[in-house]
Order: sequence, then C-alpha cells, then structure tokens
Amino acid sequence: MRILGIETSCDETGVAVYDSQQGLLAHLLYSQVALHAEYGGVVPELASRDHLRKLTPLIQQVLTNSSSHGHIDGVAYTQGPGLIGALLVGASVGRSLAWGWGLPAVGVHHLEGHLLAPMLEENPPAFPFLALLVSGGHTQLIQVDGIGQYTLLGESVDDAAGEAFDKTAKLLGLGYPGGPALAQLAEKGEPGRFVFPRPMTQRPGLNFSFSGLKTAALNTWQKLEQQSDPQAQADIAHAFQTAVIDTLAIKCRRALQQTGLKRLVVAGGVSANQRLREALAELSEGWGAQVYYPRLEFCTDNGAMIAYAGCMRLQQGQQEPLAFRATPRWPLEELNSSQ
Ligand code: KG4
Ligand code: ZN
Repeated sequence: MRILGIETSCDETGVAVYDSQQGLLAHLLYSQVALHAEYGGVVPELASRDHLRKLTPLIQQVLTNSSSHGHIDGVAYTQGPGLIGALLVGASVGRSLAWGWGLPAVGVHHLEGHLLAPMLEENPPAFPFLALLVSGGHTQLIQVDGIGQYTLLGESVDDAAGEAFDKTAKLLGLGYPGGPALAQLAEKGEPGRFVFPRPMTQRPGLNFSFSGLKTAALNTWQKLEQQSDPQAQADIAHAFQTAVIDTLAIKCRRALQQTGLKRLVVAGGVSANQRLREALAELSEGWGAQVYYPRLEFCTDNGAMIAYAGCMRLQQGQQEPLAFRATPRWPLEELNSSQ
C-alpha cells in the first residue's frame, strides 16, 4: 500500500510518500520560519496562505521524486490538532485529491504521527512502549500499547516544553523560533551560576508545569540586565535548559518505574535537543531501557510521519467519509474509541 501524506497543521508544509513494502520513498518539507520570524511567532492567517501556495507544487514534486504518479493507494492528511486554517488547507487538498483519484482518504492525528515517527527508522521499537511527546504545543507521557491504544499518563498543566523554550528565548531577545537558539546559547553558559526549580517533581504524579520557569528566567534576566553582564544571557539559558531537561528526565524515570516498560520513544520538536538525549541515555542505561528517536529531521513536523500513520490507519480499514474534518483541538485518547 502506497500512501501520500500531507502535513499542514502549523508552520511547515510537509509531503511524503510511504510504501508499506518499500518504506519511505520521498519526502519534502517547506518551512515557513522566515515568514513568521519578523512577527516573533506564527501568524495563523499567513500560515494558511503559505500552505495554499506551497502544498500543490510540493505534492507534484514528491510524486515525481518517488515515481508515484498513478501509483498511489490512499491519501493521508493531518486532521488535527493544530491551526484551523492551516489544517483546512491540507484536509481539503488531500480529501479532494483522493476523491479525484478514486482512492480512500484518512485524517491523521498529528501527535499519533509524532509518536509513530521512530517506526520509520531501521530499528523501530516494538509495542508496548512509553512515549515522551515534547513539541511546541504538547508535553505528554503516553503508554502506547499499539496503534490507537494510548493511555495518557501525564501532561503539562500549562506551557508545553517547546513553548517554554520559545517564550524564554523571546524574552532573552533570541528571536523566533527560539528553542534551537536557546539550546545553542546554553552551551556557552556556566553550569550552576543560576539554578531554577524542577517544577512538580516534589509531588507524586506525572504532570508537568513549565510556565514558572519562564518567569524565573525573566526575573533573573531583568535583575541582571541593568548590570549589563554579557555572560548572563548564556548562564540563564543554561539554567533554564537544565531545569527543563532534569524535569523531563525525572518524570520519564517515574513513568518507566510506574509502568515497568523498558522502551522509551521520544518525539516532537524538543526531542532534537542534544542535552535531553544525553540525560535520557543516562537514565535508560541505569534502568535497562532503550530509547528510540526519529531521525533529526523527523523530530519536528514533517509529512513522512503522517504518511506512515495514515498507512497504518488505512491498513486497519479506517477511512474518511467524502466530507472531511479538521479538528483543531483533539485529545489523543479520543483515538482509542475510534478503533
Ligand atoms: O513538533 P514541532 O516541530 O511542532 C509542534 O508540533 O509543536 O516542535 C517545535 C518545537 C518548538 O517549540 C521548538 O522551539 C522546539 O520544538 N525545538 C527545540 C529544539 N528544536 C526544536 N527545543 C529545544 N531544543 C532544540 N534543539
Ligand atoms: Zn508537531
């Protein structure tokens, strides 16, 4: 089964072709980062318009690159969660193409895409596994027993980890998107000069809270700004990143302990963070567990993960009716009832 996958939930236009026999045949990504940078964040209306401009040419190119013109068996597109206007572009183009081609279509949950992304790698994890989903919109710990068998164990009660990275980067004047820039700056920071809290680690449970860290960073920065300390920015970035990573690692250890699982999948944009990977490698070694990541380019949003998840869903017999749905808010666990 050969599936065309389309991702347009936020600020990346991603298109890919996945074949259940031959694997990933082609994928292309167009990032809108430069478009939104001057506004300091994603402008939804501009995102939708840019998806409209880029999506069809990208589909044409991916079909050519994978020699798949006339050889597609189904079309998958991100149904949600995400920006409604952006989702509508992918859903309407994807659903219409499938209709025109006389093929089945399937709407994919963006987070299911992220957490299945390591399945595209050479050594894919077997079920069941624990998944840490750390993106710009979500921070969740999920027990994954199979496709569509998800148990939410914990999540952020306020900002997502990536969102906290982006907001803290912004208030340190690092521009947009801030996560990778802040991580880079943190490398130059002096360890231990500042220490920020590890939120919600003192009490039981697997939920996270990251909005206080941003405030801790802001307060420290404002106090030091007047003294024009050039090293301070990097030291704050270091303290912030260390606090986020420690917190994620503590909760992962707790979740592994609680579930007894020995496989940990880490996905979403923040899983690209090298220090997080080091911390989780250390943790898993001590726990006798194995950690799985998507390749770096598939940690952030992409079409390949949507093509893969769509293929799994179509193989299970799932299909969209002729009308299409775009679901901006969509808890992952709702997928369980659609089995
Ligand atoms: O999964 P993703 O591409 O989009 C969402 O679905 O949200 O994740 C993007 C998020 C952004 O918040 C970005 O700042 C963060 O991932 N990110 C990072 C790094 N690379 C991307 N955060 C920390 N360190 C990184 N190296
Ligand atoms: Zn994402």
